[in-house]
Amino acid sequence: MRALQITEYGDNSVLTIADVSLPAPIGSQVLINVEAAALNPLDATLRAGYAQALMPLQFPATLGGDVAGVVAALGPDVNGFAVGDRVYGNAYTLLGGSGAIAEQALVQSSNLAPIPGGLSFAEAASMPVGGTTAVEAIDHSLKLQSGQKFFISGGSGAVGSAAVQLAKHLGAYVATTASGDGVDLVRELGADEVFDYTSSDFSEHLHDFDAVLDAVGGTSLEKSYGILRRGGTLVSVSGAIDQNRADQLGLTVIRQGTQSDGVLRELTAYLAEGAITARVGRTYPLEEAVAAFTALENRSVRGKIVIIL
Ligand SMILES: NC(=O)c1ccc[n+]([C@@H]2O[C@H](COP(=O)([O-])OP(=O)(O)OC[C@H]3O[C@@H](n4cnc5c(N)ncnc54)[C@H](OP(=O)(O)O)[C@@H]3O)[C@@H](O)[C@H]2O)c1
Repeated sequence: MRALQITEYGDNSVLTIADVSLPAPIGSQVLINVEAAALNPLDATLRAGYAQALMPLQFPATLGGDVAGVVAALGPDVNGFAVGDRVYGNAYTLLGGSGAIAEQALVQSSNLAPIPGGLSFAEAASMPVGGTTAVEAIDHSLKLQSGQKFFISGGSGAVGSAAVQLAKHLGAYVATTASGDGVDLVRELGADEVFDYTSSDFSEHLHDFDAVLDAVGGTSLEKSYGILRRGGTLVSVSGAIDQNRADQLGLTVIRQGTQSDGVLRELTAYLAEGAITARVGRTYPLEEAVAAFTALENRSVRGKIVIIL
C-alpha cells in the first residue's frame, strides 16, 4: 500500500510516496483502510523537524494524524469495533498510530470512534485534532457555562471554528479574531463580536472576560491575560504560558496538549447533534500531497485540507 513518508526532516522536497506494508494489529490497535486524511499545522512542523526535540520521528515516518476510513482488522484486545465499521480518529505515530496519510493505518482503539450521522469520510477526517482540542478546552479545561464571556483567538481556524460553534451551543457570549473571509465565517458560526486582527486590537476593547482559548500564540496570547477578570481562566494550545503573570493577575492558566482519548466520543456526540459542523476547504489526491502541504503552509485554503486515499 502507498504511504506519504519522509526519511529526513526538511521542506516539501522530502515528501515521498513509498510502498509500505503494515503488520497485523496487536493489542488494542485497529487496522483501517483509509479513505481520507486531513492536514494540521503540526504536520508541517513535524516534517520540518521544528519539533524534533519534543516529538522526534522514527524514520521512515508516515505523516498525518487526522484520519477516516473503514475497519479492516482488529487487535486481540479491541472491544466495541467490528470489521466494516466507518471510523475516524487520530493515527499520529506520537499517539501509537502508524500515520494517517496512507492507504492503510494502524490506530489505537482509544483514538478511534464511529463516524457520526451523515458525515462523509472527508468531513470526518477534518475533525479529530481541531475538534477534540476545542472540546477538551471548553468542556474540560475551562468548564464554560452559559452566559459567560469567552474570547477565542483564531476563531476562523480548525480549533477556533469548532470552539466558536460549541461555545455558542453552550450559551456563552463569544468574541473572536479572524482575517479576510474568516471574519464572515466566524459571524456565520455565531460569534457575537469579531475583530479583524489585521486592523484592530481586541485587547483595547475587551475586559472582564471569564475565559480565553488562545489558538494563535505570540502577541495574541500575551494580550489575552489583560482581558480576563480576576479568577478567569486562559487555555493556550499554541504558546508557552506565563505563570508569574497569571499569579499576579489572579488567573488560572493551562497549557493544553490535547489527548483525544474519550474526548473524541464527546466530539462525536456534538457532531451527531449538529452542534459542531465540519468545514472541508479543499481535497487533494495523494499524488498531489506536495501541493496540499504548500497550501497548508501558505494558508491559501480556508477550511481543512484533506487528502483522499
Ligand atoms: N496543543 C494542542 O493540543 C493543539 C491541537 C491542535 C492545534 N494546536 C495548535 O493550535 C493552533 C491553531 O491550529 P488550527 O488547526 O486551528 O490552525 P488553522 O486552522 O491554521 O487556524 C489558524 C488561526 O490563526 C489565525 N491567525 C493566523 N495568523 C494570525 C496572526 N498573525 N494573528 C492572529 N491570528 C492569526 C487564523 O486566522 P485567519 O485564517 O482568519 O487569518 C486562524 O483563525 C496551531 O498553532 C496548532 O499547532 C494545538
